[in-house]
Amino acid sequence: MINKINTLGGYFHEYQKSTLDPESFWAQQAEFFFWRKRWQHVVQWEFKTPSIRWFDGGKLNITENIFEKNLYTHGDQTAIFWEPNDPNDAPRQYTYQELFHAVNQMANSLKREGISKGDTVIIYMPMVPELTIALLACARIGAIHSVVFAGFSAQALADRITNAEARLVLTADQGYRGNKVTPLKTVVDEALSQCQGVERVVVYQRAYVDVSMTPGRDVFWQEFISNASDDCVATEMDSEDPLFILYTSGSTGQPKGIVHSSGGYMVYSAYTFRNVFQYNNGDVYFCTADIGWITGHTYLVYGPLLNGAKIVMYEGVPTWPDAGRMWDIIAKYQVNQFYTAPTIIRSLLSMGNEYLLDKDLDSLKVIGTVGEPINEDAWHWVHDHVGQSQCPVVDTWWQTETGGVMISPIAGVTPTKPSFATLPLPGIQPVIIDNDGVEQTGNSVEGNLCIRYPWPGMARTIWRDHERFRQTYFANYENVYFAGDGVRRDEDGYYRILGRVDDVINVSGHRLGTAEIENAINEHPLVNESAVVGCPHAIKGQGIYAFVVCPQTSTGGEEGVKLSIKQGVNKRIGPIAKPDYIQIVSNLPKTRSGKIMRRILRKIAEGDASSLGDTSTLLDEQVIDEIIQGALVEV
Ligand code: PRX
Repeated sequence: MINKINTLGGYFHEYQKSTLDPESFWAQQAEFFFWRKRWQHVVQWEFKTPSIRWFDGGKLNITENIFEKNLYTHGDQTAIFWEPNDPNDAPRQYTYQELFHAVNQMANSLKREGISKGDTVIIYMPMVPELTIALLACARIGAIHSVVFAGFSAQALADRITNAEARLVLTADQGYRGNKVTPLKTVVDEALSQCQGVERVVVYQRAYVDVSMTPGRDVFWQEFISNASDDCVATEMDSEDPLFILYTSGSTGQPKGIVHSSGGYMVYSAYTFRNVFQYNNGDVYFCTADIGWITGHTYLVYGPLLNGAKIVMYEGVPTWPDAGRMWDIIAKYQVNQFYTAPTIIRSLLSMGNEYLLDKDLDSLKVIGTVGEPINEDAWHWVHDHVGQSQCPVVDTWWQTETGGVMISPIAGVTPTKPSFATLPLPGIQPVIIDNDGVEQTGNSVEGNLCIRYPWPGMARTIWRDHERFRQTYFANYENVYFAGDGVRRDEDGYYRILGRVDDVINVSGHRLGTAEIENAINEHPLVNESAVVGCPHAIKGQGIYAFVVCPQTSTGGEEGVKLSIKQGVNKRIGPIAKPDYIQIVSNLPKTRSGKIMRRILRKIAEGDASSLGDTSTLLDEQVIDEIIQGALVEV
């Protein structure tokens, strides 16, 4: 079993060990896993190129560490409790043994199809157990999975298929989320009409509705796996072989395919899961994240399953059929650890406490949050009402790129402070650097959050674009990883994340690049240009505020144009990227050299026009007055 820290003294001891001698520390954690061949070097790295290699020379397969290593002790234990969208539908369960067979059968079917180590597979599925099976089946044979969140549009899916060079797509006929039905297969068909290379589409029948099936290309899941053996020897992987690609937004350009490794990611996801959540064998753990995001990868699939955990996987949305659904699920499965997002907490809080009445939440031991800063109101509400003041709330800071939690309380061990991610986990060395590259030492300082030393779970590259990887994370400041977040270290040495310092906005805990949304808006035939910034939003944390230059509004008038802009964004990216506010303006505030002054627009969208700062470099100061007057929020 993985080392578990039980006391605050134990934490400081482990932390010190991990910084004084990181190699011994991580080698010790890696000992708990089954390696076909032991590594030769714990870590070899330099952040200039960058080149990061953990457990080099080691051979393994992550699924052998989920299954073979543990089946004799907990093969009959539940791995997945699956809760359907509709509470009246039948739930499903898989033991580790059953999951193992299902994974093997899919793995053999993929092999039969000619998919092998190093091939990429795109997964565009709803939250059904087969989604987990799909990931693990790829991992079993060394295929690199790339899950695309099932809320992304056909165009966004096509972009990812093209970039990942996938030959095979796994999808479903439909997905259910609350009272909405998503026609996933139709979206896949549309995506495939816009990209090349996919030879096979496997369709899981969630709804058994009629879908169009292209002969020779499309096959139903049941048929695809029929007659495949449920015994499949795992493919041996090098530690540094990619396990998966997951796309995430950056401040410029197209989403980037973040690549995670086999060995390091395994060690890091399992270690952090066990420690942050203080998972004990037999506990039931429920993470509300969709597997389309990194949280679902690391803390619904890999971290928990590597620890032999019992997980609850939920198909639907937290407010369906009503705002008590989360509490019903917790009571039904007697959930011990509940990991969710501040936006979900805020939305449930806003619906009132009556949904908590008579719910049995006594099983809860730990509550975790992730994705965005948690405001104090939400923290106190979840702590007092959901956790009944008995459960530590762990505010976990991390990113798609970091692979696992970086700064977070260890449940019940680290004293918490509302809205603070508190202290770094062992092995993580945060540094705060100001905009001039000067490290801010000591306490009561703030600046850019960087990390000094590599950790096993960190991303290794951006798929097919190592130079962008270097530029984004390693070029701003020397010899550190730059996270893109601002942070404050308070007088106690506790870390409080202040939000992104780049042009990434965080909507309901989901990362969106402003440039990506602007590109989608600019595709509208009547739009000349646009600038997108974040604005405060009571539920989503940040909303999307678009300033759009659109000289003619055609027959539909302004409202008509705004509607079609939203439709365009929906089509280009997906519903999560639809602007909350669209303000039509005659011009954008620009410097003499033609650069849009986003700082000013941000202030206006934040309702803070009184402190615009220096506007003397503006080409046309009048444009600011016009924008303030037409602002859609109170300024
Ligand atoms: O700005 C930080 C915010 O989410 C960003 C990472 O987004 P993503 O890669 O989609 O991963 C989200 C799930 C790990 C970070 O750069 N963020 C994440 N967790 C927190 C947070 N901001 C404040 N507090 C957190 N606990």
